[in-house]
This record gives sequence, structure tokens and C-alpha cells, in this order.
Amino acid sequence: ENERSQYKDRIKTLLKEKNAVLIAHYYTDPEIQALAEETGGCVADSLEMARFGNNHPATTLIIAGVRFMGETAKVLTPEKTVVMPTLEATCSLDLGCPIEEFSAFCDQHPDRTVVVYANTSTAVKARADWIVTSSCALEIIEHLDEQGEKILWGPDRHLGAYIQKQTGAEMLMWQGACIVHDEFKSKALMDMKALHPDAAILVHPESPADIIELADAVGSTSQLIKAAQVMANKKFIVATDRGIFYKMQQLCPDKEFFEAPTAGEGATCKSCAHCPWMAMNGLKEIEDALLNPLGREVFVDMKLRDGALKSLDRMLTFNA
Ligand code: 13P
Ligand code: SF4
Repeated sequence: ENERSQYKDRIKTLLKEKNAVLIAHYYTDPEIQALAEETGGCVADSLEMARFGNNHPATTLIIAGVRFMGETAKVLTPEKTVVMPTLEATCSLDLGCPIEEFSAFCDQHPDRTVVVYANTSTAVKARADWIVTSSCALEIIEHLDEQGEKILWGPDRHLGAYIQKQTGAEMLMWQGACIVHDEFKSKALMDMKALHPDAAILVHPESPADIIELADAVGSTSQLIKAAQVMANKKFIVATDRGIFYKMQQLCPDKEFFEAPTAGEGATCKSCAHCPWMAMNGLKEIEDALLNPLGREVFVDMKLRDGALKSLDRMLTFNA
């Protein structure tokens, strides 16, 4: 405990010395989120992280999250030093959508507007016409559908299927998935709901369709946190990464939150309700990132940057 508070003290001093700000995602460990808040940084969903880094005066951004969030920050503010606790923190959606194959898929369907989820590499973003995150995907697809555009969507098939169902848009899907949300099980969720009939079910749309069907509210991390605040229920079953409980509990101290079940009894899964890549963002790694950014700094290919910036800007200015 003592060691942890020494880490935190050193990080606070270093953040000041280096004119740096810590920006953390809701899925990082609670102590990382608390530290970001305490030091004037932010805890946010992926869209708000991008906005915060873009607007903050610090010259160094420490991005506690996964690789695509660091790359997005660098594309938006190439003049800033963007550092991550570890560059190894990736995402199964990003890994499952290599640029060569995705680009070939796009080439086969030149008549379609390419819309990609933010959880992708800079190269994939540069190939896209639009970028979306889960908090703005529905509105953007609705808008494109109204313009009569046919969509090529990637990489999350569950989020894509959910949006298609909600909007009726014509969408061709890349078949990616998030290893964390893919593990939620509907039968076990129904059993849990039977035990807590007064609990509302909150679901992130990276979850499979049979989980989304059981939801009382579906949305991005920040939208689920909002739902927990405004809904009258006192209990919630939450189908997303358990990192989100930090903020939910902080904002709703009198409410009770349960993790949605991931697998049958005795079963093991590598990513049960917690992203293994988000979990790589520890105190030691944050201190290292501040002390020795070499090997932790994010760079993006400047040729790709222009293309990625164009589609990111479309997202940031849509409804802004
Ligand atoms: P949001 O925070 O945008 O809901 O995205 C979740 C996510 O995939 C981060 O890993
Ligand atoms: Fe990617 Fe899923 Fe981890 Fe988010 S939780 S970073 S979507 S693997």
C-alpha cells in the first residue's frame, strides 16, 4: 500500500514537471482512473478521450487505454508528445482488421461508404470515409442512411448488427468481435435476472445480439454510466468491462452493481469481463512512461495521418 502511494506521489510530481496530463478509459483499473481524476486529467469513453486530449493545453498526453486511443490522440495532435504506459496494449477488434485485407474488402465494394469503429489502426482509419465510436455510431449511420448511402461497416459485427437493426440501414459487415463482450452468456444472464427481478440490465453494444435483446439500456460506456444515474432502479446487471464500476459506484453510491455472467460454472475464460489489454496500464508503467518515454511514445505515419484526420474530424464535428 505504501509502495503504491509512493508511485502515485512520484507520478503526480512527474506530470507537473513534464507538463503532462493523464487521460484514462473507464476500463482501466480503478486506481488509474482515480489518479487521472486527482491530477486534473480525465476518465472518459473513447470519444471523450479524443476530445479531451485535443483541447487540453498539456504538451504531453499520457493515454491509459489501448493502442488505438493513443494513435487517435497523435493523429489529432501531432505536435504533442503522446505516450502510453505500454504500446503492447492492443484490442481484438484492431488485431482482427489488418489493413491489407480490409482495404481489399473496400476495393470490392467501391459503391459503399466505409464507416469504421474507432477501435482500429490509423491505416484502417485512413481508408475509411467516417470514423465512429459507440456513443455516436447510431446517429451517424442514421444520417448516412437518410442520404441514401450504402454502408461498408467494420470491424465489430455485433455493434454493426445492432445499428443495422435500429436504423434499417443497408450494411455490409466485417466480422470482428471484442473478446471481452463476446463472452457474455444469455442463459446465465436470464438466470441472474430471475434472481434479481428488480435489476435493470445495461449492455454495451459490442455484446452479442442475444445479450442486447435482454437489455433495458444499450450504449457506450458513458451512456451506460448515465443510464445508471437516471434510471430509478436500485440494482443493475452490467454487461461490459468491470472497470466501469468505479465510475458507476462513485456517481451512484446508493445503488448496487453486478457483473453480467460470462461463462458457466467452473468455466475459465481469458477475458471474463475485464480487457487484458486495458489491464496492462499499471502505476509502474505510467511512471516509466513519464520517466522514459522511449519505446512508449506513439508515432503515426504522416502520410496516413491526413486521411485518418479527415474521417476523425467528420466524427468530431458531427453534432458537436
Ligand atoms: P466506448 O468507451 O467508446 O464505449 O468504447 C468501449 C471500448 O471499446 C473501449 O475498449
Ligand atoms: Fe478492444 Fe474489447 Fe478491450 Fe475494448 S474491451 S479494448 S473493444 S478488446
